Amino acid sequence: MRLLVLGGTAFLGRHVTTAALDRGHEVATFTRGVTGRPPDGVRALHGDRDDPDALPRALDGWVPELVVDTSCQTRAAAGNAAAALGGAGVRGYAFVSSLNAYSTWPPGPVPDERQPTWDTDDDEYGPVKAHAERVLGAAFAGRFLTARAGLIVGPHDNVRRLPWWLERIARGGRVVVPDALDQPIALVDVRDLAGWLVAMAEQGADGPANATGPAGMATLGELLRTCREVTGSDADLVPVPEEELLAAGVEPWLHLPLWLPREMAGTAWDVGTARARELGLPSRPVRETVADTWAWLQRDPVRLPIPHGLPEPGLPADLEAALLASR
Ligand SMILES: NC(=O)c1ccc[n+]([C@@H]2O[C@H](COP(=O)([O-])OP(=O)(O)OC[C@H]3O[C@@H](n4cnc5c(N)ncnc54)[C@H](OP(=O)(O)O)[C@@H]3O)[C@@H](O)[C@H]2O)c1
Repeated sequence: MRLLVLGGTAFLGRHVTTAALDRGHEVATFTRGVTGRPPDGVRALHGDRDDPDALPRALDGWVPELVVDTSCQTRAAAGNAAAALGGAGVRGYAFVSSLNAYSTWPPGPVPDERQPTWDTDDDEYGPVKAHAERVLGAAFAGRFLTARAGLIVGPHDNVRRLPWWLERIARGGRVVVPDALDQPIALVDVRDLAGWLVAMAEQGADGPANATGPAGMATLGELLRTCREVTGSDADLVPVPEEELLAAGVEPWLHLPLWLPREMAGTAWDVGTARARELGLPSRPVRETVADTWAWLQRDPVRLPIPHGLPEPGLPADLEAALLASR
């Protein structure tokens, strides 16, 4: 079928494009043409989705039957896609939202998809995703799957949280880690999510689904020790108590990626994924994701910019040295 990826050249969208090709679809991507290129065999359409005329102009009569939307970050982008594609023959629209669409997350928990979503008119990430869900959900009623994604990891990760840990641990020596190594973590492999999004569009699946790994699938410590294993590093993981990290100015999630402070960590990954599992979202072993991400980091020197103005994750060297000095 004719499948349009709104996005398609950076991280998740790149894997969606590949999965759609593998499943035999005729694939087009729609991007500004700034970040990366789609693989051969893909119709590369260009334009800014914040411009209401850009998508109809780029499509130029090519009518998609399926849409996977990985790139929606503004209210205008949602409205423009609804206007351009809503009247056409779209049979399934899979939209990439976020757990941030819930007004209660973080810290959660999110037992199921009936939890409240944001209903404010500001341009913060969560409210924009929630708004986009409503606008696109109305335009594609009955065939609109909204994937409320959790932490997405895997090869080509341009947000660079797991890649930072892999590269830091690979360098070896003494590595500051939070002493909360038993805190739970859930993640979804980008390839599992991408293939599933294509399948959901094909099936015309409808409604929200929390799209992350099952609660309790791993702990932060297991993830970091797996990083040590797959990189073959002799790094010494040096646990530092939360109070000390915070007092030194270490920002959770940013400076020590994937680490959450205690009051959030207990519930943030307590996310009910029964619907996604019923709909067939796979969850491959964490080790495979970590090993494949490391293999990609070693193989591919191209590093795409970190998206949406997000800051570069990782612990500044001077902060790390100061924390290690007293140990
Ligand atoms: N990473 C996570 O852990 C996480 C967690 C939850 C949810 N999410 C969501 O998952 C999705 C991740 O997608 P991704 O970034 O990996 O997707 P992607 O489709 O691989 O990359 C984003 C694409 O959007 C295009 N784009 C950006 N601004 C555009 C514009 N104004 N008009 C047209 N195209 C535009 C970019 O190309 P050009 O620059 O060339 O335009 C790029 O191809 C996002 O929706 C994110 O909010 C991520």
